[in-house]
Order: sequence, then C-alpha cells, then structure tokens
Amino acid sequence: MDLFVTCSKTLEPLLAQELGALGYPQSSTGYCGVNVPDVDFEAVYRINYLSRLATRVLVPLTKFRCFDAKSLYQAVGRVDWEVYISSGKTIAIDANVHHPNLRNSLFAAQVAKDAICDQLRARFGWRPEVDVKNPNVQLNLYINGDLGLLSFDTSGVSLTKRGYRKETTEAPMQENLAAALLMIADFKETDILCDPCCGSGTLLTEAAMIASRTAPGFLRTRWGFMNLPQFSNEKWLKVKAQADSERIELPKNRIFGADISKQAIYACKVNFRAAGFHHAIEVVQSDVREYTPPAPPSMVITNPPYGMRLDDVDQLCPLYRALGDFMKQKTAKPAKGFVLTGSPELAKEVGLATTRRHVVNNGGLEARLLEFDLY
Ligand SMILES: C[S@@+](CC[C@H](N)C(=O)[O-])C[C@H]1O[C@@H](n2cnc3c(N)ncnc32)[C@H](O)[C@@H]1O
Repeated sequence: MDLFVTCSKTLEPLLAQELGALGYPQSSTGYCGVNVPDVDFEAVYRINYLSRLATRVLVPLTKFRCFDAKSLYQAVGRVDWEVYISSGKTIAIDANVHHPNLRNSLFAAQVAKDAICDQLRARFGWRPEVDVKNPNVQLNLYINGDLGLLSFDTSGVSLTKRGYRKETTEAPMQENLAAALLMIADFKETDILCDPCCGSGTLLTEAAMIASRTAPGFLRTRWGFMNLPQFSNEKWLKVKAQADSERIELPKNRIFGADISKQAIYACKVNFRAAGFHHAIEVVQSDVREYTPPAPPSMVITNPPYGMRLDDVDQLCPLYRALGDFMKQKTAKPAKGFVLTGSPELAKEVGLATTRRHVVNNGGLEARLLEFDLY
C-alpha cells in the first residue's frame, strides 16, 4: 500500500530525508507531507513510532474527483464501509477542504459522514456514532480543487503530542518543529546543548530524546492503527521492542537551559520528569544576561520571543543583543548558534554574521532559524 505522511509546511524535504533514513528511500515530497509508496503494514507502525517530524500517517482509501457535495457523497458511498467499521464502533472525520462549492471543512466532513452512515444503515440496519475525542475509526478528508482524498488516519491523536507536555508557558513550540530544528542544526549525541530562553523545555526534551535514542512515540500508548482490521498486536510489539532496545541512558552535563520566568522553569521540571529526563537536564531561572551554563555549550539553540505574540519588537532588542553576547562569550569554541525568530529587525540585533537562514513555519507564522558559526 501507499502512505501519505503529513507534516507542517516547509518540513517536507526534511521529512522525506528522515523517512529515507528509516528505510523508505522512495519517499517523495507533496504538499504538507510525503508520499511513501509500496510499503507493507509494518511501515505504519514504524513511521508512527519513529518519525520525529511527521504529524499523521494516512492510508489513502479512495481518491476521487470532487465537484460538489453530491460527488463527495457518491465517492464516499462507493467504499465498502463494513470492511472497516463494525457495529458499535465510533467514527470521526478530520477535514481539510479548499473547494468553492463546499462551504467549509466541517460541512464536507458532515457530507462524508452521512454517506458512510446511510450506506451502513441501508445495508445492515445500524449506523456508527460520531466520537470526535476518542473514535474507533479516525478518517481524514482532504479536498483541494477537484481532487478528493479520503484516508484512514493511523495516528489518531496527532504525532506532535509525545505525551511529556504536562505543563506549558506562553508560546510553546510544537514538538515536531523542535525536532526539525535540531535536525537542521545537525545536533549530535556528543553535543553540549543549551537553550537560554527555554520556556517549557521543548527543544531540550526533544534533544534529550534524540541523544538517548528514545523513539518519539515512547510515552504514547494509543495510535489510530490499533483500530484497523490489519492490526497485529504481535507485529506492533516487535517493532516497538526493536526500537526501544536501542535506547541509551542520557549522560548528565550535556543538556542545559535557563529562562527568566519561574513558571517556565516549573513547566520544564514537570515535563522533564514526565519524559524521564529530570536527572539529566539542568535548568535554572535566570536572565540570559546573568546565565553561565555549567559547561561551555558546543551548540546554542533557542526560540526567544519575537514580538508577534509576546512583546513589542523595540522592547526585545536588548534581549537579542544579550543572546549575541551569550553566544560569543559563553560557548565552547568552535561552536554553533541557532536562533529562531520571525522578526528580521530583531535578527540584526544579535550582532553576529549569519552563516545561513533556514525558513520554517512556526505555528502558521513564517520564521527563520538563523545559524551562526562561533569561533
Ligand atoms: C517563545 S518562548 C520559548 C518557548 C519554548 N521554546 C517552548 O517550547 O516552550 C520564549 C521564552 O523566552 C523567555 N525569556 C524572555 N526574556 C528572557 C531573558 N531575558 N532571559 C531568559 N529568558 C527569557 C520567556 O520567558 C519565554 O519563556
């Protein structure tokens, strides 16, 4: 079968590269995702468990030409739903629809749901209930122009939800964006990494997961694939056991962070404990201006506030200058520095020559990961 693995906009090439490294070299980029052709069901387990960048793993069920609500209803009605949905099971449909004749995504999802329910009621006399929170069968409807695609969502809850984020602060970063930034930065197990504006600790936790070779799905217990007829618990447990056997202990004194906010440091500590890294990651409440990490970092990576959501750009200039000074003065030499910002004005305040700028999408806003060589 073929899979479509979704991700945030701009991460497609990186996801294709990650999937190549997981053993799927035929993967090719699409819009907000990557096509993985001709794989067996084991790939569903592996990608759901091991991809740090994916949002969802979809198994396309039917591809159709969609002109209006009627053609959508007919196309969904052509699938034999009793193969996938048995009596007493619940369903939910996540829709992402851009079509002039379909009012909105919710309406399109409703039409698709009616087609499924009407077919099952006409044939067998029962219809599935909708449960948007915890459905047995999660479907994904994508319509763009005339192209319609209805898929099984084998992930269920989005893969960005690793299970360690118990506490949060303002403007936390998505877990898979943090993992993507670390991949762009070429973070290695041997790096000494520091985030001096660490917020709830997403970059630090993702780094700890990479450094300890912990699968991103390690803390999760449920995936959508567990409800599919092809699911084999034995084969799934084999995939999980193989991945988990590669875990290593995270060495101490490798991953550090600071944040000026007491709430942020509290959130970090709660989240590190949930992830099992509370002994190994050291964070302190401190202004970046006064902060000296316990060991000189070989990599600084951080996501300071950048005006759009938290503060005013003018007010933030001193913070960006302080980050530039921090990278110059407190790192090992040579080292690498990375600052994620959506503000070109603030980027200049860092006061260091940028080696590269990587464009990424941070919660719907275009941002740049600025890269600095520190000698
Ligand atoms: C956008 S948030 C970081 C979010 C983080 N990446 C996460 O996933 O939770 C920026 C953080 O910078 C912190 N901050 C602002 N000014 C600071 C300063 N002078 N020193 C240290 N941290 C600061 C804020 O408290 C906030 O937690």
